Amino acid sequence: MAIEKLTGRAAIVTGGGAGIGGEIARTLAADEAQVLIIDIDESTAAANVERIRTAGGQAVAMVGDVAQEEVAKGMVERAVAEFGRLDILVQNAFGVVTSSIGGSAVEVGIDSWRRGLDLLVGAHFLGAKYAVPAMEASGPPAGFEPEPWDGRGLRRGTPPLREVGRIVNISSVHGLLQAAGSAIYETGKAAVNGLTRQMAIDFGPLGITVNAIAPGHMVTDNLEKLWADVGNEAGFHLHELQYPVRRTGESADIAHAVSFLCSPQASFITGVILPVDGGHSIQLQENIILELKDYIQRNPDLKTFFDSPGFAQKGRE
Ligand SMILES: NC(=O)c1ccc[n+]([C@@H]2O[C@H](COP(=O)([O-])OP(=O)(O)OC[C@H]3O[C@@H](n4cnc5c(N)ncnc54)[C@H](O)[C@@H]3O)[C@@H](O)[C@H]2O)c1
Repeated sequence: MAIEKLTGRAAIVTGGGAGIGGEIARTLAADEAQVLIIDIDESTAAANVERIRTAGGQAVAMVGDVAQEEVAKGMVERAVAEFGRLDILVQNAFGVVTSSIGGSAVEVGIDSWRRGLDLLVGAHFLGAKYAVPAMEASGPPAGFEPEPWDGRGLRRGTPPLREVGRIVNISSVHGLLQAAGSAIYETGKAAVNGLTRQMAIDFGPLGITVNAIAPGHMVTDNLEKLWADVGNEAGFHLHELQYPVRRTGESADIAHAVSFLCSPQASFITGVILPVDGGHSIQLQENIILELKDYIQRNPDLKTFFDSPGFAQKGRE
């Protein structure tokens, strides 16, 4: 059976102006959900809304920093005011390229630590705090037919709530595995995974599923620019060779997974941290580096986006 459309459902996508969030917003709208894009960047949010409307979808834009409590509260109020309900919250906002938050616990400043975690994980807490009561108040979308609760498997009494809501948190493979010199990002993404599982347990009885997606390296418009500026073909191919599927990801790979997790067919999936990474995170790393040794030696001039000052990685001796 094909994945059902999201007709009659209302969604919020944080950081939905550009990059992965931009593609998620377009995909949910193409699936017939009504979409509120909240983004700190007014022009990209407005441009994406225009793009969705031109394609026949429904979307509105709102500007704000989702790490701020009044913005988290306001986005939920606005979605309910615009669409009359709330069904889906996709928490994606974070500028991968624009945020310079690298460093070990010794190196990062206390303000950067607080601001970084406020956005990486605090925003997910705030989003859920205001979205969950709105989802409960909305109830399942019109036309939703609960499956018969007819005694199979000794099912008796009142059926559990279903299709009340979906939360999808965008985490990272950096929440599953740690990279050197990245205390804020790795801690924040690991915390998103913990919060996802916690919320899945807390909100499952309300009919709300909560999952996270852990993307690998996704070549968004921003990363494309970075690759063009500081990388070269040999460096990009080195990245591709690290993936069992022999390619890096694209925003659509994440958007399709979000769309599935929001569909009625995914109602029994909750508390999952789903890597969408072409198999990158299942490999034994000491083998990868040995497998790539010859390639690196043959291409001593390779440059990757890690050569950008924002991504400076320390060598190990
Ligand atoms: N691109 C990747 O390779 C990759 C890999 C793993 C995880 N991720 C995760 O995916 C998500 C999106 O990343 P991306 O690569 O698309 O980033 P991006 O920089 O291309 O887009 C991020 C969007 O979020 C918005 N934004 C940033 N801070 C915000 C805030 N405080 N409030 C509201 N909006 C805000 C930006 O304006 C932008 O539109 C992030 O959570 C990131 O950690 C990305």
